[in-house]
Amino acid sequence: MTPWMRKSGSRAAAAIAMAGGLALLLTPAAAQPPRPPTIVTLCAPCHGVKGDGGDVEKPNLAGQKSIYLRLQLLAFRSGKRKHPQMRSVVRNLNDREIDQLVVYYSTLVP
Ligand code: HEC
Repeated sequence: MTPWMRKSGSRAAAAIAMAGGLALLLTPAAAQPPRPPTIVTLCAPCHGVKGDGGDVEKPNLAGQKSIYLRLQLLAFRSGKRKHPQMRSVVRNLNDREIDQLVVYYSTLVP
């Protein structure tokens, strides 16, 4: 045991425990990795569950702005943005499913 621990070991331990508890309390929900919605299995083959595609064939989605993701998905769905693969994947998604995917991918840290 080092001298500082012998002198104030229990007090230090209590302080550390308190700080740990406080840190847990103060940790915002966003700091936890977001849980993928079930529907992400539709996107994962190309974009990955973590949205970290990173090339022209698999554009990165992680951390992309939610407004951008939503607009792109709506445009693919309506056919305004033309891409046969993306269209066929999103054409049957409802607004709620699109929202889930937007929230999920935009909260991932790229
Ligand atoms: C078959 C492969 C494939 C699947 C499955 C797929 N994507 Fe894509 N996605 C692509 C490709 C390729 C592009 C690039 C389109 C282009 O070049 O315009 C793209 C583009 C996008 C973009 C636009 C990215 C940008 O930077 O503008 C978004 C957003 C997107 N996909 C989301 C999704 C979501 C959400 C799903 C699941 C519902 C999904 N994709 C499923 C292949 C796929």
